[in-house]
Amino acid sequence: MRELNVFIEINGRQIFVGQIVGEGYLDARFKYCKEYLTSSNAMPISISLQLQEEYFSASQTKNFFESLLPEGFSRKAVAEWMKTDENDYISILAVLGKECLGAIKIIEGDGDEQAAYVRLSEEKVKALAAEGATKSTEILIETHLSLTGATGKVGLYYNEAENAWYLPKGDAPSTHIVKQSHVRLKQIVINEQLCMKAAKRMGITVSDSFIICPDINADEELLYATARYDRVLSETDFIDGLQRPYRLHQEDFAQALGIFAAEKYEKNPSGYMARMFDLIRNNSSSPLEDQEALLRMIIFNYLIGNTDCHVKNFSLLYGKDLKSKRLAPAYDIVATRVYKTTPEMSFFIGGELDIEKINRNSFGKAASEIGISKNLVLRIFDEMANEIEKSIQAAGEELCNAGFMNAKGIGKAINEGVRRRL
Ligand SMILES: Nc1ncnc2c1ncn2[C@@H]1O[C@H](COP(=O)(O)OP(=O)(O)OP(=O)(O)O)[C@@H](O)[C@H]1O
Ligand SMILES: [Mg+2]
Repeated sequence: MRELNVFIEINGRQIFVGQIVGEGYLDARFKYCKEYLTSSNAMPISISLQLQEEYFSASQTKNFFESLLPEGFSRKAVAEWMKTDENDYISILAVLGKECLGAIKIIEGDGDEQAAYVRLSEEKVKALAAEGATKSTEILIETHLSLTGATGKVGLYYNEAENAWYLPKGDAPSTHIVKQSHVRLKQIVINEQLCMKAAKRMGITVSDSFIICPDINADEELLYATARYDRVLSETDFIDGLQRPYRLHQEDFAQALGIFAAEKYEKNPSGYMARMFDLIRNNSSSPLEDQEALLRMIIFNYLIGNTDCHVKNFSLLYGKDLKSKRLAPAYDIVATRVYKTTPEMSFFIGGELDIEKINRNSFGKAASEIGISKNLVLRIFDEMANEIEKSIQAAGEELCNAGFMNAKGIGKAINEGVRRRL
């Protein structure tokens, strides 16, 4: 019988919330512990795991906890490294669960390793970029860190004052997620940074990001760094002389909606878009503002041609005491259509999945489904449609002026798609 202890960090303190118990990954089930349930401030760790005394089913357990793991090639590489079955999410979590997305920490046994930061030399940061997913896998294992998503990525600590990167050890939190370039999808780092900048110009709240460029001219050496919105530096608490990041909790829409990570793309009409808006309407501490923000994010993704805007690319960010929730800042926005990847969106919009067939009317049709008036949806659509080309162009120029000469070309390619769609 395996027992994984689940903790959540609140104001820098680890609170034991319960256990995942089972013979293996097929029958593992999560249960809140009595002490947590009876404590005065107990709050659910997920919208899909409301407080209850009974065990959750194996499927509910898998839905939330497996969703914390890396996906695709990264998951395969981690499993191979550990010599374990890649479906065995329990074994992988037992190794990587010390630093996850949000404030959850998972430990099998005592697992009390001292928190520490080890400075990375410039060469090491460069190696991280150059060595692809194998290197990031090695670092994931070394840092016991589980970051969902398919791209090779690591969580690192960045100390802005000295422009230095550190590897978190033990259960030390990371401050940034660092994503690698992609061998097949050229200039993806510049593409993502450009889209984030354009989104910001259009009033969308985005996570802060920048490009790490050991060699500005070598595309494969560029790294995309995003500051974690689920980490806040403490003014009084330090690890190895560095400000300790306190963890804020977050969960992605797939976790909150009870959708398996493997089903993050809506293949048959299952009302994903309506469910996303219901989720915000019923759970956000500022539902009106967040519904509009979500709508703007979706329209932006459509306009720039990001078909990879699945339900794990939207999250809820919890307040310090878990009592409030807001739509998290936008992240992982890449204009995927410039790579001639699938034209299928990640969810149906007004009954249509093919991004090249979706149009203004599709959003009009979607309005009743998502519970927002058609007039408002179309007004926001038109406003954004008027702004988009200028914003993409300006973001491209901004990056070009910073030395990323390819940005202009990417901006142009994105805008060709924008014009086609409008
Ligand atoms: N700035 C951020 N702060 C906190 N969490 C973040 C941030 N950016 C991304 N995340 C979280 O990390 C996860 C992985 O990041 P991201 O989506 O960018 O990776 P990816 O591998 O490109 O994903 P995908 O598999 O969708 O292509 C996200 O699902 C989100 O939960
Ligand atoms: Mg993603």
